[in-house]
Amino acid sequence: MQEEQFIPKSYTSSVEKGSFTWSSPSNIALVKYWGKKAQQIPENPSISFTLDNCKTTTTLSFSKKESQDDFSFDVLLDGDKKEGFKPKIETFFKRIEAYLPFLKDYHFKIETSNTFPHSSGIASSASGMSALALCLMSVEKLLVESDASLNVADKSIGNDFFIQKTSFLARLGSGSACRSLEGDLVVWGKHDEIDGSSDLFGVKYPFEVHKNFKNYQDTILLVDKGEKQVSSTVGHNLMHGHSFAQERFKQAHKSMSTLIKVFEDGDLDMFIEIVESEALTLHAMMMTSMPYFILMKPNTLEIINKIWAFRQETNSKVCFTLDAGANVHVLYPESECEQVCEFIKNKLVVFCQKGQYINDKIGFGAKLINN
Ligand code: DP6
Repeated sequence: MQEEQFIPKSYTSSVEKGSFTWSSPSNIALVKYWGKKAQQIPENPSISFTLDNCKTTTTLSFSKKESQDDFSFDVLLDGDKKEGFKPKIETFFKRIEAYLPFLKDYHFKIETSNTFPHSSGIASSASGMSALALCLMSVEKLLVESDASLNVADKSIGNDFFIQKTSFLARLGSGSACRSLEGDLVVWGKHDEIDGSSDLFGVKYPFEVHKNFKNYQDTILLVDKGEKQVSSTVGHNLMHGHSFAQERFKQAHKSMSTLIKVFEDGDLDMFIEIVESEALTLHAMMMTSMPYFILMKPNTLEIINKIWAFRQETNSKVCFTLDAGANVHVLYPESECEQVCEFIKNKLVVFCQKGQYINDKIGFGAKLINN
């Protein structure tokens, strides 16, 4: 499927004003997206667990404006205007203009809030960009459905297409955002063994998943809540000309193949091996790029070592993964909730900034709150 699929037949912006509210979750990658080509095309396939509690709720209000020369929008986080968010959204609007021709017809008010603290070091771009893309797609659906000049067949935007185009748009805002719309596992990027997988949008993982992974838990330990040292855009760019890049992209394809088997037979030991190796490889790529970065903090390593020791002592299947930062996602099966939560409280919370952590688990994607 090509990009052209997502350029709509022309329709009129006949609605004067309205608003939509969507909530959309964050996601945590098991096989990491790190490195991209032009137009937000990933260098390798990735797969993520959709989260449940960590999410963004966005209300998009739109009203017809006089001139169609420029984009016009305000952004508010928890009720406060955020000028600092505007450049990223402006870039997003430019990238998606060809696919949403109404963008310059309206003034938009984007009111957004996160369930997790903005400065927690948890990336809000996946949940934020996916929530915004959903609101914008809802506007398109409304405009198409209320255009009297369109025939019945052209008037309907089916659910599957709605999600696919939203994921396509969200990707143009932030790559990982295209994996946040549905649950519980989402694949983004072409992989030979996954029919329907695409570099252009995320798709629900199409195969059976063993019961060991149902309701998988993710406790996010907030090790360092400071501003990110390296933006993900800068980080992705460091993969251009990186000495180990091609091997890394191959490894990601292999990790995906192994995970397909793991999800089929429920092999938690192999799951741990892939997930931890992916997290450490992501950081290894940053440590070996030019310029180089260490995004882990001493407490990140303390936590990793404690998790390894706990596994040795108890035969638990708890493991960790990392984003492009110092926080640690502690992943474990639902059946181990009690013992791992005890372990986290007794041994790991001491390494968190102000003792803060967030209990989350696999979730099932975005929700329309209001229209
Ligand atoms: C380390 O999706 O934030 O979390 O496309 O530049 O917005 P942009 O990057 P972004 O990168 C996420 C990288 C990662 C791994 C992952 O989520 O797969």
